[in-house]
Amino acid sequence: MDHFTYKNAELHCESVPLRAVADAVGTPSYIYSRAALLQSYGAYDRAFASVPHVVCYAVKANSNLGVLATLARAGAGADIVSGGELFRALRAGVPPKKIIFSGVGKTREEMRDALKADILMFNVESVSELRALDDVAREMGVRAPVALRVNPDVDPQTHPYISTGLKTSKFGVPIAEALAVYDEAARLTGVEVVGVQMHIGSQLTKTSPFADAGARIAALAKTLRERGITIQWLDVGGGLGIRYRDEAPPRHEDYAGVLVPMARELGVTVLIEPGRSIVGNAGVLLTRVLYRKATPAKRFVVVDAAMNDLIRPSFYDAYHEIRPLDAARTTAPTETVDVVGPICESSDFLAQDRVLPTMEEGDLLALMSAGAYGFAMASNYNTRPRAAEVLVDGAGYTIVRRRETYEDLVAGETMV
Ligand code: LLP
Repeated sequence: MDHFTYKNAELHCESVPLRAVADAVGTPSYIYSRAALLQSYGAYDRAFASVPHVVCYAVKANSNLGVLATLARAGAGADIVSGGELFRALRAGVPPKKIIFSGVGKTREEMRDALKADILMFNVESVSELRALDDVAREMGVRAPVALRVNPDVDPQTHPYISTGLKTSKFGVPIAEALAVYDEAARLTGVEVVGVQMHIGSQLTKTSPFADAGARIAALAKTLRERGITIQWLDVGGGLGIRYRDEAPPRHEDYAGVLVPMARELGVTVLIEPGRSIVGNAGVLLTRVLYRKATPAKRFVVVDAAMNDLIRPSFYDAYHEIRPLDAARTTAPTETVDVVGPICESSDFLAQDRVLPTMEEGDLLALMSAGAYGFAMASNYNTRPRAAEVLVDGAGYTIVRRRETYEDLVAGETMV
């Protein structure tokens, strides 16, 4: 997390002391580094520079308009999974011809909206969806550009909840059935086959699963060509992992290194759908210590952020490093604590049995690597307003989402 460093004994994001943001905006707050976003986007763009490609940022990882607009201006496309994400991507200025639509349960209304917007491609996940899309497109008098999401049955060696390319997964069309589905697609007049897609999982820390899966879908693309079905786009999904603790994910060049030769041989344009690796290490969650509490069994540090703000620790047992904003704290004697939020659930923790320097009430902490699937998975559980989001650029910052108010929370409700 190069853009979050201690300077003058205070944790900074770029040139902004995080304490200043906490004082002005309050806590909990998400803070993102513009430079970090552009660096990770640029790393993909450069790694795939030798072949035609589009980096379609996976909007689900962090859908804030400030983040999306920053990436769109840098040239990014978008990988969307809902009508809501289509709305956001268009609003943020992503060109429709750089938008791809993934997901197992697209509604007809979402299909219509995406066809109206004239997006690049639909990643279709089942025969039923293919037929529905064909129907909707014919009703509209257009042809929907499609890729089949092919499930290559490769173990991505990651958390089971975020593995998507195994044969037991709900995602994609099993590779053994793909040819038959492509044959049907080629006969439909409301769709036009343009690509092949895969996505095998998230937080991958090895290149070999990408290489195995890539080889399988590249072979499929070749067979399709031989049958006269033209494939212009090879969509290799997202999933490059990041360092949360001691992971050593592959470099962008190594990731591209296994996929570029396949793309070159096929003469296709590569689409990449990274989410976590673009925003994950570009963001932190700032929180303040409310109380210390000790029971005969445990020590707790109660903070003002909770599982509704960052659900990853409760949901996936995920590890987020915790740093005090005050560098002097880092040398305090350590203790083993649970860092917990105010929510009425025992699963409301941000860290368990963590060895940390002793924190005092009022201390400010940063939960690191929280830019991806942080705010995006936040909820209003316990009627907690969602956190503010701030985008830092050099020595300045912008509140890209104000903190929700209580009025926001009840705005759509009616008393009877
Ligand atoms: N494309 C598709 C079709 C996907 O399903 C996903 C993520 C991506 C791209 C982006 O993958 P990434 O580059 O971010 O690994 N909430 C979980 C992660 C869920 C990922 C779901 N799909 C977490 O917090 O770890």
